[in-house]
Amino acid sequence: MSTSTNSPRSGRAVPARPSLFRSILRPRNLAITAIALFALIQVVSFPVISMAGWQTNPNPLAEPAWDKPETRALAVRACYDCHSDETVWPWYSQVAPVSWLVTRHVIDGRRKLNFSEWGVRGVEVNEVTRAVRSGKMPTKDFLLMHPEAKLTDAEKQQLIDGLSASLR
Ligand code: HEC
Repeated sequence: MSTSTNSPRSGRAVPARPSLFRSILRPRNLAITAIALFALIQVVSFPVISMAGWQTNPNPLAEPAWDKPETRALAVRACYDCHSDETVWPWYSQVAPVSWLVTRHVIDGRRKLNFSEWGVRGVEVNEVTRAVRSGKMPTKDFLLMHPEAKLTDAEKQQLIDGLSASLR
């Protein structure tokens, strides 16, 4: 008589298969996933941003009638990266996801106030000086990456006085 069975019982315990979730959470796999995701978003984001022309500097149209070169210099230092057509795009502005944030800031900033397209949009002088006085502008995250854009109290006052005299 046959004693063979279909289930070979070797006696060895079959190791439980780790769940997909658990294996993804292994440090090595997490690192690989993170690197792959990082590479993927560069490949997708870089051409989209450059094709859309979001990081370009259009030809400046008209500037305010600056009262003094010093006023313009202060505005260039603290505001022009987001509020002009002369944005300096640093290397990290090419690297996603930082590029998304930086590009967004410049698009939104130019839309509100563009010193290179003066007269195109109505901008309230009071609103501009208030943004400086209150410390809302330049933004905190910008100052983190651009400590040179931080104005002393005296420079703030100089910029406020200069803007009041220049913007009409
Ligand atoms: C990092 C980019 C960045 C810099 C640098 C910057 N701004 Fe802005 N600014 C923005 C963005 C983005 C907005 C739109 C945000 C919003 O609608 O709240 C804005 C809005 C404004 C507005 C519209 C009113 C308001 O308060 O929202 C004024 C006025 C302004 N900025 C003035 C300035 C001045 C003056 C400087 C320089 C002293 C400056 N900004 C520097 C990004 C910037």
